Amino acid sequence: ALTPELSKQAKWKEIEGIPLAAATVDNWNQIQAFKAKPDDLLICTYPKSGTTWIQEIVDMIEQNGDVDKCQRDIIQHRHPFIEWARPPQPSGVDKANEMPSPRILKTHLSTQLLPPSFWTSNCKFLYVARNAKDCMVSYYHFYRMSQVLPDPGTWDEYFETFISGKVNWGSWFDHVRGWWEIRDRYQILFLFYEDMKRDPKREIRKVMQFMGKNLDEEVLDKIVQETSFERMKENPMTNRSTVPKSVLDQSISPFMRKGTVGDWKNHFTVAQNEKFDEIYRQKMKGTSINFCMEL
Ligand code: A3P
Repeated sequence: ALTPELSKQAKWKEIEGIPLAAATVDNWNQIQAFKAKPDDLLICTYPKSGTTWIQEIVDMIEQNGDVDKCQRDIIQHRHPFIEWARPPQPSGVDKANEMPSPRILKTHLSTQLLPPSFWTSNCKFLYVARNAKDCMVSYYHFYRMSQVLPDPGTWDEYFETFISGKVNWGSWFDHVRGWWEIRDRYQILFLFYEDMKRDPKREIRKVMQFMGKNLDEEVLDKIVQETSFERMKENPMTNRSTVPKSVLDQSISPFMRKGTVGDWKNHFTVAQNEKFDEIYRQKMKGTSINFCMEL
């Protein structure tokens, strides 16, 4: 029998050097053969960048601000997660194939791993990026509370792992760069978590326009309220409280943890911050992307 630690690691494999769930890798042919449609909207994020938040915003817009309709199911079930697999349950691709159009889908895949039909379908992509330091901190606490991901070790150990890109779904740098560099070649709305914090109404309006919707000001105001961190933390349909403790142990760290910009300052040492800034300069050299690190 495998020790718990080894059995956790056995659940992860790699594609092109990128760690992914073993069940995802085992289902890779079905994922790559996925047929995107022109009226699909794909929500794309690196993990811990505000995926759940943007999903709730998109659903609220889609349902014209109808809170009851957004309560129809937990957020994980409202938008098929393309690379998700846990046999014998239907895979993300199975769920997407069953879904009536226009479909709203979710992925954490980097551009080089995305099923190729997305590039030829002329569908819409909604990418949310979060500054690397806060993303790293959020992912650390998620690794700690997740009972299915490998143990992240100490903060210092995890710091090196994150930089090396050997975390689930790969390197933050490659992910963000990849999507940023193609943003003008496809129908991509590229948003930042920090802008959503600073001026949620403005960013929600951008999403609404991108989705081809036209909602009244009062509906927009309601969506701003309903998708605040405080509301989503209380909302059982968004706070992951229905996920068993054997998968996510929220007594270690809640899924809706802090929802702020700048929490990295409570984690990074001065030396780590200097090291990180230097690595960031190297890895993001030549890109025009610019992140806000505090509000
Ligand atoms: P923290 O761990 O920094 O609190 P994802 O959904 O991609 O897994 O991202 C989770 C992160 O987004 C967590 O960050 C979570 O608290 C934050 N988040 C979720 N809903 C939010 C909201 N409505 N406003 C701000 N942050 C939110």
